[in-house]
Amino acid sequence: MKAIVFKQYGQTDVLHMEEIPKPKPKKNELLIKVIATTVTTADVRIRGLDVPFGFRLITKLIFGFFKPSKNILGVEFSGIVEEIGESVKEFAISDEVFGSKDSFGCYAEYIVVPETSLVTKRTSNVSLEDMAGTTFGGLTSLIYLRNLGKIKTGQKVLINGASGCLGVYGVQLAKYFGAEVTGVCSTNNVELVKSLGADHVIDYTKINITELAEEFDIIYDTVGKILFKDGKKMLKENGRFLLAVADIKDYMIVLWSFLFQKKKAVASVALAKKDDILLLQELINSGKIKPVTDRYYNMSQISEAHEYVETARKKGSVVIRVNE
Ligand SMILES: NC(=O)c1ccc[n+]([C@@H]2O[C@H](COP(=O)([O-])OP(=O)(O)OC[C@H]3O[C@@H](n4cnc5c(N)ncnc54)[C@H](OP(=O)(O)O)[C@@H]3O)[C@@H](O)[C@H]2O)c1
Repeated sequence: MKAIVFKQYGQTDVLHMEEIPKPKPKKNELLIKVIATTVTTADVRIRGLDVPFGFRLITKLIFGFFKPSKNILGVEFSGIVEEIGESVKEFAISDEVFGSKDSFGCYAEYIVVPETSLVTKRTSNVSLEDMAGTTFGGLTSLIYLRNLGKIKTGQKVLINGASGCLGVYGVQLAKYFGAEVTGVCSTNNVELVKSLGADHVIDYTKINITELAEEFDIIYDTVGKILFKDGKKMLKENGRFLLAVADIKDYMIVLWSFLFQKKKAVASVALAKKDDILLLQELINSGKIKPVTDRYYNMSQISEAHEYVETARKKGSVVIRVNE
């Protein structure tokens, strides 16, 4: 089967198409023919070892010190079940599925995943290609807003980077949880963010958000552009400042605010559970969450797709078509 492999960290030219053996499912696994995957910010960060300050060493320990130990990127997928292990109960051959693979490996024509992992059937009329881009932003923003932000109905929530992958799901999920949502983006993306249901949209090229007089219960900075000292001024007394991007200094602030401040800074690696992807599936089925795909590329255009994601200007997801 074909896969996009990378054998060293670096620029986009380290990504190459190769023939590798097709995997075989174990007893509890599904063999999935991948229809689509995506280029996420996680793929770009690992490929280029471009991680927040203080996390390079730990990233190398996890992903390979001198060269990557996992040679295939890609953390989300959609596809069709081609084979099942003998103890698989919930899935059958030909099921259309989508999911998330924390251990990477989705830039390939076939993948195997345990049936208990973050995989579920496509039950909506959203195309398999668009479903591929739903889990990275959807699950991360669900964990951030619900688990870390403790979001409640009626709260005022500001989402910075509202047009990015985390942002488009952040806006829609915050609306689902009953919040009054203010999305922040540049001029080009104002209409998109409004269309996702944001009650207010601020164009950061025209208004300096750190000077807003308004106060929020939650500020969710998906792009790591607001300093806690500025965010704090815009938070209500027991408000939470959620940092999707945090370097080692930010984690010190998180600890300090946890110990001594009423206004908390919160950051974490978002780890989702099976129930979370089932909720996401339900929200997509009911139309409460609409996937946003910016561009589609073929597998042979993977370097181009990585270059586009690196611009940090993408809207929602960038999908890679793997099998027709
Ligand atoms: N903690 C975790 O578990 C976790 C999980 C996933 C991702 N992340 C991190 O979250 C970050 C965001 O990921 P993503 O996939 O959402 O990124 P993304 O899709 O690449 O974000 C692109 C968006 O960012 C917006 N943007 C760029 N500069 C901005 C600024 N100064 N102010 C407001 N918006 C701005 C752009 O909108 P405009 O063009 O309108 O500016 C664009 O739409 C990444 O750094 C990733 O590593 C963390």
